[in-house]
Amino acid sequence: MCGIVGYIGKRDSQQILIDGLKKLEYRGYDSAGIAVFTHNGLEVRKSKGRLAVLEEKLIGDALHGSVGIGHTRWATHGKPSDENSHPHTDNTHKFSVVHNGIIENYLDLKDELVAKGHHFLSETDTEVISHLVADEYDGDIVQAVQRAVKRMRGAFALGVLTEFEPDRLVAVRYASPLVIGIGEGENFIGSDIPAILEHTRNVYILDDGEMAILTNHSVELRTINGEIISKEIFHVDWDLVTAEKAGFDHFMLKEIYEQPKAYRDTMMGRISADGRSVELKEIGMTPEQIRSIRNIQIVACGTAYHAGMVGKTIIESLARIPVEIDVASEYRYRSPIITPETLVIVVSQSGETADTLAALREAKRCGARVLAITNVVGSSVSREANDVIITQAGPEIAVASTKAYTSQLIAFMLYGLFLADTLATREKDWIADVLASMQKLPDQVEMILERAQVLKQVAESLAKHNNLFFIGRGVDFAVAQEGSLKLKEISYIHSEAYPAGELKHGTLALIEEGIPVVALITQEDLYEKTLSNIKEVKARGAHVLGLVNEGSEVEVDELFAIPCTLPLLSPALSVVPLQLLAYYASLARGNDVDKPRNLAKSVTVE
Ligand code: F6R
Repeated sequence: MCGIVGYIGKRDSQQILIDGLKKLEYRGYDSAGIAVFTHNGLEVRKSKGRLAVLEEKLIGDALHGSVGIGHTRWATHGKPSDENSHPHTDNTHKFSVVHNGIIENYLDLKDELVAKGHHFLSETDTEVISHLVADEYDGDIVQAVQRAVKRMRGAFALGVLTEFEPDRLVAVRYASPLVIGIGEGENFIGSDIPAILEHTRNVYILDDGEMAILTNHSVELRTINGEIISKEIFHVDWDLVTAEKAGFDHFMLKEIYEQPKAYRDTMMGRISADGRSVELKEIGMTPEQIRSIRNIQIVACGTAYHAGMVGKTIIESLARIPVEIDVASEYRYRSPIITPETLVIVVSQSGETADTLAALREAKRCGARVLAITNVVGSSVSREANDVIITQAGPEIAVASTKAYTSQLIAFMLYGLFLADTLATREKDWIADVLASMQKLPDQVEMILERAQVLKQVAESLAKHNNLFFIGRGVDFAVAQEGSLKLKEISYIHSEAYPAGELKHGTLALIEEGIPVVALITQEDLYEKTLSNIKEVKARGAHVLGLVNEGSEVEVDELFAIPCTLPLLSPALSVVPLQLLAYYASLARGNDVDKPRNLAKSVTVE
């Protein structure tokens, strides 16, 4: 998974490409590169490492020209290195390609091209594309690209340039996202909208199997088979400022603090004026169709999966429909039992995660109706699902997801209440009470954020350890999972989340003097049981941080209380201190909080 940009116009392209890549670094930052038509022809600069390394390389060695493509890489085939960085060229250096995705049959294609005399310089699948396009070229770059992509299997978003036709930039989308920005006397390509938003608000969102041929003055849209197509222009009405740091040291911290707004925005327009019901106008299912749902399968990855774990409890408790939950990369391969009465809910911040998208397609192929909970309008998931609930978290830039997760929890609550109302599994008055409690959540998150400094101190001592545990029962366990993932991914401290009652079946052996245990104990009906489990770890010398409801007294080493709410809503509060713990622990260890090692924001490979 990588990010690509492209520019064709009258301005010097180098800075436009670099600025676009800065917005895409969340998609990968193993290496970066650009190719620009200069007076010397098609020239490439690329280097291993962050974009800043490339920028330094360009000082004193700039590329001047008004047509170019750029790339920021998350390594899939071949280690991060200068040679494996994009753009890739062919042996004649007349063709240049940037690519996001994977070419599954690249070895076969490579063998064939080598036999024809092509020499390869990198270990990447992408280099095959530049050679293949060159091989197919007979005077028309569009046809050469069409012929080449027909031979490629896998996923790709491409930007292609050839020195033979310096007035054309060709872009293709197949299973990796790509948007086309329409300017005045200039046009753009980008892996997402923020990459080009500085220059235009008018975009085409390409669908799979579509391509765009850009010149200064025109954008022609075709299928990869060559048929001309027309599409509606999508006008972007959100602001780039929302995607900037706004004075916070890191995007992650900014995004943690944006959660009250994200909660309000996700609820906005979805609660009736009298506060007694949920209005999800975006759901196209009739009450009869909803009544016919026999089972629900929730499918997602990582943090979105953890939101799904809470979603399962919410839906089963509110609508009394059985819910299974699957990690998306496993779902397709376990032959899930899907009937026309199955509703599949896919959860994805980006809406582009390859595993989740594949699960969605499999579910549809087997006849399920699919509901997507996603944060990105126009994303692949949002376009392919039958129904979509957009979480209104706004752009999430930090690799570690925070506000998208909590907005997914709000979306699940709204959907659970919507089902309960339609199926009459809960009284109207009860629904109204829950909605009233939900509307208090943003202020309650603010109260937690006001005490962030307490968590900073706790995190600084946690950061000295190499192992720790999170425990909880019920939805507290689901939140413990998320707390553990957050800590692992940005602080690199090994941690495990365990159902509190399960420790004694083996893992308790790892509890030793001084090991930190974060214990969540917010569920009233499980209070006594969890308390016993806390005593078990304390008796073995663990240093326990208890996360409790206000007013609750638990004998532990440190206590952090969250405001009281309904048990099903507590994850929307209890996760916030865990996000802050992870953030400050990462900071204390001197890590790059927003761009943790080995990870990328949007995982568009399987
Ligand atoms: C962790 C994180 C990832 C994502 C996962 C799915 O902080 O962000 O675990 O949740 O890669 O991504 P989306 O939600 O975009 O499908």
